[in-house]
Amino acid sequence: MFDLPALRATLSEKYDLAPSPELAAEMSDIYARMSRVVSPADWAIYAPYVRAINALKKERNAVILGHNYMTPEIFHGVSDFVGDSLQLAIKATEVEADVIVQCGVHFMAETSKILSPEKTVLMPDMEAGCSLAESITAEGVEEMRRRYPGAPVVSYVNTTAEVKAASDICCTSSNAAQIVAAQESDTVIMTPDQYLAQNVARQVPQKNVVWWEGSCIVHEQYTAQDLREFREWNPGTRLIAHPECPPDVVAEADFSGSTSGIIKYVTDEKPEKALLITECSMASNIADELPEVEFVGPCNMCPYMKKISLEKVLFALDTMTGQVEVDPAVADKARLSVQRMIDLSRKLGL
Ligand code: 13P
Ligand code: SF4
Repeated sequence: MFDLPALRATLSEKYDLAPSPELAAEMSDIYARMSRVVSPADWAIYAPYVRAINALKKERNAVILGHNYMTPEIFHGVSDFVGDSLQLAIKATEVEADVIVQCGVHFMAETSKILSPEKTVLMPDMEAGCSLAESITAEGVEEMRRRYPGAPVVSYVNTTAEVKAASDICCTSSNAAQIVAAQESDTVIMTPDQYLAQNVARQVPQKNVVWWEGSCIVHEQYTAQDLREFREWNPGTRLIAHPECPPDVVAEADFSGSTSGIIKYVTDEKPEKALLITECSMASNIADELPEVEFVGPCNMCPYMKKISLEKVLFALDTMTGQVEVDPAVADKARLSVQRMIDLSRKLGL
């Protein structure tokens, strides 16, 4: 557990991190990407950290991969590449850097390490987990194989390296239906997200999709009734849900897609009002690019994603702590599952 005031004090001994309206003004080009959602006073606090991190990245030959759920100061301020789980996994194979700082959750950093074992992968806070990744172990995968002999196991990337290693292929929310449809067997096991699996089962009725009973603590909170009431009280609002939501919630929505799929949909469609049925930072990160869209309604915060902060990113890069390691034998097997997903996605033009 980090003691944030103590961390700030330690970092301030080495870096000039005092809030600075002058520096904030100098860095107004970066601020312009988040000015609708970050106040000038907050930007004056963030700007010295953003400057220090961006300078240290050059020194360390590091890149920051930022997930779409990062807060705006991380998403716009220090990330070199942003995207959904699939895009970040692919980026990890492409970037020429000695160090990857994963601004996201632990399974994403593990995926980067699996794909780029020669690189140093830093996780700013090792406690940034995921309820889905925690819901299943490799033994759980074996149990599903015993229950459904011969059926392939398609595991969501939101899993540990051990679970990936025990699976046949991975998927993300942007390619799950196509990956399941491409399996030869009639029965396909999906782990660990029961709701993603049920949503895929609807999209791929020719397959008998069976699932593990895991769920995302952020998306499972939404109900179809919430959406119906919201629509009734806010006519004309476009409802857009992540496929980790229960299937009756997805059925009530106007569109469902991965985090990047949601961003693309809102960017292309530019609805007057949009409710993003997903993590809170999604709307914040695209608000400035889409001034014509009013983002309305409640969102849910992912407590794991929100563990990543500018202070922790600076500390990780400064001290090179938080290095993610994966047992090489596990990594070799897990890489097969992730690489099969990347290859199949490319083949399918996804
Ligand atoms: P995406 O692959 O859609 O970015 O989803 C990752 C995630 O953890 C959503 O909760
Ligand atoms: Fe895991 Fe849900 Fe958080 Fe995504 S939003 S990292 S699935 S707990």
